[in-house]
Amino acid sequence: MSDTLRIGLIGWGTVGSALGLLIAQGPVRVQIVALAVRDPSRGRATPLPAGVPLMSPPELIREAEIVVEVVGGVDAALDWARDSLTRGRAYVTANKALLATHGALLAELATGHGGALLASASVGGGAPMIELVAHLAATGRIERLRGVLNATTTFMLSAMARGNTYAQALQAAQDAGYAEADPTFDVEGRDAAQKLAILASVAWGGWRSESEVERQGIVGIRLEPGATVRLVAEATPERMTVRPMRLPPSSPLAGVSGVASGLVVELTDTDPHLLVGPGAGGRATAGALYADLARLSAGERPILFAPRHGAIG
Ligand SMILES: NC(=O)c1ccc[n+]([C@@H]2O[C@H](COP(=O)([O-])OP(=O)(O)OC[C@H]3O[C@@H](n4cnc5c(N)ncnc54)[C@H](OP(=O)(O)O)[C@@H]3O)[C@@H](O)[C@H]2O)c1
Repeated sequence: MSDTLRIGLIGWGTVGSALGLLIAQGPVRVQIVALAVRDPSRGRATPLPAGVPLMSPPELIREAEIVVEVVGGVDAALDWARDSLTRGRAYVTANKALLATHGALLAELATGHGGALLASASVGGGAPMIELVAHLAATGRIERLRGVLNATTTFMLSAMARGNTYAQALQAAQDAGYAEADPTFDVEGRDAAQKLAILASVAWGGWRSESEVERQGIVGIRLEPGATVRLVAEATPERMTVRPMRLPPSSPLAGVSGVASGLVVELTDTDPHLLVGPGAGGRATAGALYADLARLSAGERPILFAPRHGAIG
């Protein structure tokens, strides 16, 4: 194992603070050399780490060889990622929105400046979906991806199958902390579409955008009691779709419930692979970021997908 990784961490929220705890426990030797948050004075469940200098993101990027971004959103994150990758930094992120919007540019910058781009946590939370797809993509025989990738809609659809209305299910998801005050992103299928675009980019070797996903969310949907319906994200080399689907009990995705995410990878010449794991939550997601740091610690410099656009159809 190489020397201690010196990282700059942007974000100390649900995921960032959970990553901080993992780093403190080891075994990978990681030092947080700089931290950036939006409002250092706000009260927080996990205090900011003692002795770590607080900086603005641009200052932090100048300071650290490895930049870990756990903030989210597209515009500011794009500036940070460009700045980092242009300087040849390794950029590690959980930010699916950034990758599904500007992934080709970031991969190009990483390739052109000797940087690295890692984002295990952007899809599947703690379930290593990107790694499974990358592994299976090596033989070039992935035919189809089919996943239940968004926990909020799984929670709501399960509640509706028990007789709740859409409004009741949404309220229950918000009360349980599964849905944001503004749930648009989840219930309109954008979260699942972004994750699908990232998985398809890894599966077929060229970047694909969220905007290419045909999308139908679950807003206002009605279910028959007992029906197993999930928001299913599906990709082939030609097409990407997100839509609610009724699943037969025999479907491996019918058993995906709670905060789990599930992915089936179909191959041309062997049986499908199924991966189910914790799809959200600070600790699980931080575990995926930590695994990315372990790869860097082992000397790898991966770039998530090829810099060209992988045109569909
Ligand atoms: N939560 C999950 O289960 C989960 C699962 C998978 C992926 N993700 C992804 O992980 C990322 C972070 O999610 P989260 O749930 O941890 O979010 P969060 O709890 O809202 O934390 C966001 C953090 O970013 C900081 N921040 C916001 N704007 C900033 C700015 N301009 N400069 C510096 N810091 C800024 C905030 O600072 P303050 O602390 O001062 O407010 C906060 O520490 C997102 O991309 C999300 O999609 C989350």
